[in-house]
Amino acid sequence: MKQAKVAIVTGAGQGIGLEIARSLCVAGSHVILNDLEQSLTEEAVSSLSQEAKGRVIGCSGDSAKPELIQEMMDLAIREFGTVDQVVANAGITLFGSFLDYSMEDFQEVMRVNQLGTFLLTQAAARIMKSQPKGGSILFTSSVTGHQSHENLAAYAMSKAAVEMLAKNLVLELAPFGIRINAIAPGATLTERTTSDPDYAATWSRLTPLGKAAEAKDIAEAAYFLLSDAARHITGQTLIVDGGWTAISPSPYD
Ligand SMILES: NC(=O)c1ccc[n+]([C@@H]2O[C@H](COP(=O)([O-])OP(=O)(O)OC[C@H]3O[C@@H](n4cnc5c(N)ncnc54)[C@H](O)[C@@H]3O)[C@@H](O)[C@H]2O)c1
Repeated sequence: MKQAKVAIVTGAGQGIGLEIARSLCVAGSHVILNDLEQSLTEEAVSSLSQEAKGRVIGCSGDSAKPELIQEMMDLAIREFGTVDQVVANAGITLFGSFLDYSMEDFQEVMRVNQLGTFLLTQAAARIMKSQPKGGSILFTSSVTGHQSHENLAAYAMSKAAVEMLAKNLVLELAPFGIRINAIAPGATLTERTTSDPDYAATWSRLTPLGKAAEAKDIAEAAYFLLSDAARHITGQTLIVDGGWTAISPSPYD
């Protein structure tokens, strides 16, 4: 029988992370599910446990803190003896005009989005490098890492950086069979975005495929990159945006 994979997903109490965790659970992976919010972590674990083929274990806390990252790795090794799939999904958006942006907001965006991704990857790769089967790591980037988007200079910079991290690590991690990729979602309907009541209608108008993404649309692309079906893909970013980044402003709009 095929050995179940062991996954860690951060920022997975709701939204895109929750759907990625769901796709892994349904496919048979054991999942360590992280969210900053204890209540969201517990709700997600209890909801996913209904449909999971393997086990789902919550590990709440700040995914950019080295102690929490170590706790997740220790939990995976203690319970399952391995770490196969790691998703650095937790990310924050602090909007603000570039000219007024505070150093505190800049540092917090970089701490969660960049440092958290870097440290999680480092801890996971240190385990995966001693496994003959290697492992697969995925970052949640954003289309804002590709196109200009008002009031998102720091966020956009942090997302472009994680895509470069995925590409950069190919040389150091491919020899160990560790693949690193990113997904870059466009407008996606999650708790974060639907607080704006016009969000779905606005993005339906702006997106060539006629609607904003559901979290499941992102999760299925993420699942592919994490799975063995993507065994020869590393260092890449897959944009999942209904065609939004393929177009430019047109004189006929
Ligand atoms: N929704 C979109 O349109 C969209 C588009 C592009 C990229 N993204 C990216 O996708 C990822 C998920 O976004 P979402 O829309 O599902 O967000 P969301 O806000 O709905 O959910 C994110 C979850 O992450 C948790 N979180 C925040 N900081 C954390 C931390 N330090 N440690 C652990 N958990 C933390 C939050 O508590 C929340 O439950 C983010 O990296 C985001 O930047 C989202």
